[in-house]
Amino acid sequence: MTEQPLVEISALDISFTTKSGRVDAVRGVSFTMGRERLGIVGESGSGKSLTARCLLGILPANAEVRSRHIVFDGIRVDTAGEAEMRRLRGRRIGMILQDPKYSLNPLLTVSQQLCEMFSIHRVGNRAEARAKAIDLLRAVGFTDADRVMASYPHELSGGMGQRAMIAMMLMTDPDLIVADEPTSALDVTVKLKVLDTMDRMVRERRMGLVLISHDLNLVAAYCDRILIMYRGRVVETLNSPDLAAARHPYTRALVDSLPRLDRQVDRLKTLDRGADWTRWENAGA
Ligand SMILES: Nc1ncnc2c1ncn2[C@@H]1O[C@H](COP(=O)(O)OP(=O)(O)O)[C@@H](O)[C@H]1O
Ligand SMILES: [Mg+2]
Repeated sequence: MTEQPLVEISALDISFTTKSGRVDAVRGVSFTMGRERLGIVGESGSGKSLTARCLLGILPANAEVRSRHIVFDGIRVDTAGEAEMRRLRGRRIGMILQDPKYSLNPLLTVSQQLCEMFSIHRVGNRAEARAKAIDLLRAVGFTDADRVMASYPHELSGGMGQRAMIAMMLMTDPDLIVADEPTSALDVTVKLKVLDTMDRMVRERRMGLVLISHDLNLVAAYCDRILIMYRGRVVETLNSPDLAAARHPYTRALVDSLPRLDRQVDRLKTLDRGADWTRWENAGA
C-alpha cells in the first residue's frame, strides 16, 4: 500500500482519576488503518469507545490522554486545535452512535438536519443540499424519500432513524465513518438491514469504517480486520477470515462461545477469566 494511512494511532493511553482511584481505561493502543473496514471488539468497558472518540477529539473532559501521535489523513489530531477538529468532525469523519434518538435532533425534520449538515460545512447551496439529501435517502433504502424528508425523528422507527443517520453522515462525503455499536438498540432483522446499508455505502464510496461492537460474529461479517480489546489493550489483531486461528485466550473464548449452526451446543460457553490471560496482558500482547 503506497497511499498514506487514513488513521494512525500510536501508544495511546487514556486514564481517569476517580474518587476510588486511578482508572487506566486505554493502555498502549496502537494501530494503523487505510480505507478498509476495521472492527473493534471487546466486552463492555474494554476501552473501545474511548479509543474511537480520541480520533474525533470528543473524550470526556476528565480524561487524561497521552500518545506518541494520533494522525488522521496526515493531520495531527493529538495536537490540533478546536477549530481544526470542528472541520474534521462531521465533514471528514462521520460518527454513528448506538441510538438515533440521541444523534438526531428531535426538533428538526430529517430534511432540515441533512441540509444543515451540508451548510455547516459549506459544501453547497440549498438546492444542491436538498437534491443530495433525497439521493442519499434513496440510497439507504427509502422508497418514499420525500415523505421521510418531511418527518421528525419520532415519526421514524429505530431502523429508519439509523438509516437516516447514515444518510446524514454521508452528506459531506466523509473519508471515515466511526460506528459505535450502531445497531445495539435494534431488532435482529432490522439490524442486518442497517448494517448491509452501511456496508454498501462504505464500499461504494471507498471510505474507511471503524465498526465497534461487543459482537464478534457481527464484526467478522462486516469487517476486513478485527482488533480485539481486553481491559484497555489491543490483545490481538486478526483478518476476519482467520478468526478460527485466533491465539489469545480471550479471543479463543469469544470464538468458542459463538453460536454455530453446524453443531449442537447445549448452552453458550461462559467466559472464564483464567490466570493465563494475565500472563498475556503482562506480556503486552
Ligand atoms: N468519564 C469517565 N470517567 C471515569 N471513567 C471513565 C469515563 N469514561 C470512561 N471511563 C472508564 O473507561 C472504561 C472504558 O470505557 P469505554 O471506552 O466507553 O468502554 P467500551 O466502549 O469498550 O464499553 C470504562 O469502563 C470506565 O472505567
Ligand atoms: Mg462503548
